[in-house]
Amino acid sequence: VDTDVDYESKINALKRSLNAVILAHYYQESEIQDVADFVGDSLALAQAAAKTDADVIVFCGVHFMAETAKILNPAKQVLLPDLKAGCSLSDRCPPAAFQAFKEKHPGAFVVSYVNSSAAVKAMSDVICTSSNAVKIVQQVPQDRQILFAPDQHLGRHVMKQTGRDMVLWPGSCIVHEIFSEKKLVQLKVEHPDAEVVAHPECEQPVLRHADFIGSTKGILDYVVASPKQKFIVVTEAGILHQMKLKAPEKTYIPAPPDNGCACNECPYMRLNTLEKLYLCMRDRTPELRLPENLQRAARAPLQRMLEWS
Ligand code: 13P
Ligand code: SF4
Repeated sequence: VDTDVDYESKINALKRSLNAVILAHYYQESEIQDVADFVGDSLALAQAAAKTDADVIVFCGVHFMAETAKILNPAKQVLLPDLKAGCSLSDRCPPAAFQAFKEKHPGAFVVSYVNSSAAVKAMSDVICTSSNAVKIVQQVPQDRQILFAPDQHLGRHVMKQTGRDMVLWPGSCIVHEIFSEKKLVQLKVEHPDAEVVAHPECEQPVLRHADFIGSTKGILDYVVASPKQKFIVVTEAGILHQMKLKAPEKTYIPAPPDNGCACNECPYMRLNTLEKLYLCMRDRTPELRLPENLQRAARAPLQRMLEWS
């Protein structure tokens, strides 16, 4: 990255000339969040993409999020800084294997987490995010068996909250599955006045120590509203940027993973940089493209999610 280049001014100029809107997920690096028009979790970003009147959507997040924006807004150009920004949940749920999983449970109602490919969404009855998963599952007809994919940990959390039994696809997030329970307990002992806030993609041994479990937006709202002053944050460390902006007087301690690093970052999300964001707007590439028939098939379950949210 050329540190002498004022990417922020260049990006702002391109935003005006392209009539573009920049949407960024909380797990993006701080510089990207600061230049975005809207920063949110995967549900809020999908909602923002569905109602924007910009001509171009520049999506700073991972591939499935940009896909969702395109499916909800087929007439718009969707650009993303790096096409290789994938997601382990989506990658570990290949459409052919998912089709076979569905065939083993004929007649079941399929709820897929938004962290999945468009092809998997197209085979689903409704989509959910971590913000609305409980609410969505509660609306599935009581007499239907539910298949839930691809995140097993979110699935277990939703089963507990709703009392509904579900058949789970055995997927997990490489970021959230590596938080160390031992290090989390050590942190709790060192900071007995801190509350633990965690994302439901974490494993059960970690989640059982949480005072609050929620989506990235849920966690952010919780720490801002809480009377407590100190939080141990068990999700991707990018979220700390908005916490510090919204409640600067509080203390945030990122929970460490089991790999020796001090905090946990999603390697896919972090493929995006300010420089790549500028270049994708300047060159109008890479662009998210999806076959029309796949877009159409994936749109119905996504729209059902927006209606049920
Ligand atoms: P949110 O829906 O909470 O934004 O989570 C997205 C994600 O990728 C979590 O790892
Ligand atoms: Fe996927 Fe996990 Fe990264 Fe979220 S944090 S994009 S679930 S790999």
